Amino acid sequence: MDGRNSVYTLKWQDDRLYLLDQTKLPIEHVDIECNTYEEVADAIRYMKVRGAPAIGVTAAYGIVLGAMEYMGDSDEAFLTHMDRVSRVLADTRPTAVNLFWAIERMMLVVHDNRDKSLDEVKNLLLDEAHKIMEEDIESNKNMGKFGQELLKDGDVILTHCNAGALATAGYGTALGVIRAAVDAGKDIKVYADETRPYLQGARLTAWELMEDDIPVTLITDNMAGYFMQKGAITGVIVGADRIAANGDVANKIGTYSVAVLANENKIPFYVAAPTSTFDLTLESGDRIPIEERDQKEVTHIQGRRIAPYNVKVKNPAFDITPNRYVRAIITEKGVAYPPYDESLAKLLAKN
Ligand code: MRU
Repeated sequence: MDGRNSVYTLKWQDDRLYLLDQTKLPIEHVDIECNTYEEVADAIRYMKVRGAPAIGVTAAYGIVLGAMEYMGDSDEAFLTHMDRVSRVLADTRPTAVNLFWAIERMMLVVHDNRDKSLDEVKNLLLDEAHKIMEEDIESNKNMGKFGQELLKDGDVILTHCNAGALATAGYGTALGVIRAAVDAGKDIKVYADETRPYLQGARLTAWELMEDDIPVTLITDNMAGYFMQKGAITGVIVGADRIAANGDVANKIGTYSVAVLANENKIPFYVAAPTSTFDLTLESGDRIPIEERDQKEVTHIQGRRIAPYNVKVKNPAFDITPNRYVRAIITEKGVAYPPYDESLAKLLAKN
């Protein structure tokens, strides 16, 4: 891959899907091998692979594995089997719309090719999954091209969670914009929020940027306001898991707080996301389903209990940033500005 990006997320090899196990990073670099669609579903559910575009691409290969597992010769039974495969994969995580987008796109291949042999359909599914993966990398590169124009030499950018190569098929969305700005010769420094409770910022973003020699400083989530107030941060870029028609953005829990702080401190807050993250069927962010995850993610750090036994816990994995805090949304088709109900629909209609 050209440009700065030495990290890989997933690869298809010898009829199997290999994922870099993100639960083990940055301490251990271990690949997991998925031979069945159930293994793929578990890898998504337990966040061995995570990040909206990455789980979409992974699910596409999950559909391929599901199709390859079918050994019968009845078209009807194949369709019933594939419906089950798509339901199991869709049932893993509810917020990132890229998951449902990719599954739907793959199932269209199944339904549109009912006149073909099962072997032909399996090959077409593999072609489609490769296409989804290649398109994801290409759209991240394009997002980088458009987004880097918003950054100036000397900028210090805060990011939250991991919206990098590890959250996509490669290059990244928010981190893709930063990579492109650095490749364009700009001096860019990054502050990475640690991103409690799952620590995607500390474990993944910090590691990924260091692998590419992009200067990064790790801070805890509650330090963001302090550094903004001191003038140490000149911009914020985050990714997204789902963007509603009015430009409300679902992203990792804590993003909303960062957006409010950025606005209070008159710092531009940008979102970088491919159009596969748009959900224009939802008028606003109110109806975006928010995943509630295991309480253990809050009561424990890396398997070690830090909270009292039996304490009441809440663990929403995402929050909604209202569109009024979002200066611009960077996509592979260009940059959208408010009012988003007009600009997002226009971008989506563009070829
Ligand atoms: O729970 P995660 O790690 O899957 O959440 C990931 C995020 O919130 C990312 O910011 C988002 O998916 C954009 S990734 C390009």
